[in-house]
Amino acid sequence: MTTKQFKRILFGGDYNPEQWPKEVWYKDMQLLTKADINEATINVFSWAQIQPSEERYDFSMLDDIINLLTENHFQIVLATSTAALPAWMANRYPDVTRTDFAGRHHRFGGRHNACPNSPTFRFFSQKLAGELAKHYGHLDNVVCWHISNEYGGQCYCDNCAAAFRVWLKQHYENLDAVNQAWNTHFWGHTFYEWEEIFPPNDLGDAIGEDNSTIAGLSIDYRRFMSDSILRNFTDERDAIRKFDTDTPITTNLMGTFKDLDYFKWAKEMDLVSWDNYPSYNTPYSFTAMSHDLMRGVKGGAPFMLMEQTPSQQNWQPYNSLKRPGQMRSMSYQAMAHGADTIQFFQLRQSRGATEKFHGAVISHADTDNTRVFKETAALGHELNGLGTEILGARTPAKVAIMFDWDNYWALEYASGPNVQLKYVDQIHQYYAAFYRQNVAVDLIPTDLSAKELAKYDLVVAPVLYMVKDGVADNLKSYVKNGGHFLTTFMSGLVDRNDNVFIGGYPGPLRELLGIWVEEFDALPPEKHYQVTFNDQADFSCDMLCDIMHLEGAKALANYSKGEFYQDTPAVTENEFGQGQAFYVGTQLAAKGLDYLVGQLIDQFGWEHYATSEAVEITRRDQADASYYFIINNGGKSEQVSWSKAGQDLLSKQAVAAGTLDLDPYAVKLIKVAK
Ligand code: GLA
Ligand code: ZN
Repeated sequence: MTTKQFKRILFGGDYNPEQWPKEVWYKDMQLLTKADINEATINVFSWAQIQPSEERYDFSMLDDIINLLTENHFQIVLATSTAALPAWMANRYPDVTRTDFAGRHHRFGGRHNACPNSPTFRFFSQKLAGELAKHYGHLDNVVCWHISNEYGGQCYCDNCAAAFRVWLKQHYENLDAVNQAWNTHFWGHTFYEWEEIFPPNDLGDAIGEDNSTIAGLSIDYRRFMSDSILRNFTDERDAIRKFDTDTPITTNLMGTFKDLDYFKWAKEMDLVSWDNYPSYNTPYSFTAMSHDLMRGVKGGAPFMLMEQTPSQQNWQPYNSLKRPGQMRSMSYQAMAHGADTIQFFQLRQSRGATEKFHGAVISHADTDNTRVFKETAALGHELNGLGTEILGARTPAKVAIMFDWDNYWALEYASGPNVQLKYVDQIHQYYAAFYRQNVAVDLIPTDLSAKELAKYDLVVAPVLYMVKDGVADNLKSYVKNGGHFLTTFMSGLVDRNDNVFIGGYPGPLRELLGIWVEEFDALPPEKHYQVTFNDQADFSCDMLCDIMHLEGAKALANYSKGEFYQDTPAVTENEFGQGQAFYVGTQLAAKGLDYLVGQLIDQFGWEHYATSEAVEITRRDQADASYYFIINNGGKSEQVSWSKAGQDLLSKQAVAAGTLDLDPYAVKLIKVAK
């Protein structure tokens, strides 16, 4: 199933009429229609209303909402409501709520807090999803199912502990294998009975939220939690499928969110959708990377931008407004990276409770005469005029960056060598270096075959700390056959259970890289060091410095004066079969990465554009045309030199090669025939 099924660019978002008297709904229909809003995501948090008691469903209000939306020609994304438990359920069946990291069992309250292994929750959530599908699945304008909402978190209750033991039995068969996998003779952790194993929270093996006595156990618990919550999703999905065989089913993901292995999740989802909430100071490259990751988890398929705020958020420390024009530019940034829908949280602003100051299309002023409403309406008209030709367009990338949740978890549980080492930050540094030169990047998982990798000129795997079975072999045969691979410090260190490969770092990548890393030095934040490339270019480096020996590779850069490892290799290149493998043994400052990426661009001739930092140029392709999104993400006027003749689909003007002027937050969407 693809986003093409929607037959238009869905433009709308979360709509919660259950919080309002009916007169307000009628006004909403008028205002939203005026803004060319064509979609409403409903029933996200209505479980308590549609199932007032264990014995009774009451769909009368939802019927009214759906009828009204249908009469007014809205498409509907129908949520299943299971992201917030009804109070009656939590009170009658305490197993539905979670036990937290501190070991406290929660009462009713909040949302996103069902115990994934609660038999009661599983029973009622599936039943509700099935009832909804029976009731509404046949409707033409129900164009997508939205299961639950922003899944995540952990539970450490007794039901979860029991289910964890079952999960372990499935994965390890016997306790000897578990003891071995977790290296449990460390600190006398040898287990003799399955019941001796407990979830690793504050009452057990956790050392704070980010550290663990036995990282193998904590990583397995994260895998187990991600799988458990995924089963909540598939429970509901399968219940819907009994009554509705063809409406796409999704749930809204959250970019680089740590808790869930989204590559695994996306396999179970018809479409990926996600919620984009950058802060006022989030780098443009980080937002771009998050979109690319959401495209990447589903193998490059376009996704839904399920939520963004029209202007303001309420839950961040500083909830700055989107500047005039910025909501539009951010919407197109999403589209440039693969979004085929533009949806908001939310259509009407709440008047009470914690989200009352969260922005919405219709604000507390209750009128169309607001900046935010007018900008939304302008975008609505524009998207309407754009038609559907962009739907389904793909991103042509020759560079891939590996992203892997097991690595994310494992690297961040590692005690040492440097507390500042964060997984997503490392991935982002490399992503940003390509982004600065407007080179397209795909985010890919680590388990692609050599054949699947072969479509990329270069595969980058920053901090590939954990090398799971098969990964090194795939990379080797990819490079042997002419591929190019680049990895960094803190790579090739541990297996899937977080046990170090004995015999020298970087373990299974050593032959491919042609180096042996003997030690790594940690630099405190105030300390920088320098590397010098062969052509004498000098760059600052910090965080970690690998001390390595060449075993076939040649040095591209050495550490410069000042430390006992001065003049030893810092960056290397190894010829391997018909390809090359690069190793960057330290954290290069941005200028150093720019230099490196510049060299690679020279080598491969990738499409790239020189722009100022605020401007990005991103391409999507259909069979007969390329679509170039030229976006000024910033609040200052910019210029860009452009070489292709085409048609700007937004201004409807022809564009010739030359200098393009870009106002603050300007967007050009240039169609270039192939
Ligand atoms: C999330 C949730 C929404 C809402 C928004 C507010 O994305 O899915 O229900 O709370 O945040 O930003
Ligand atoms: Zn639980």
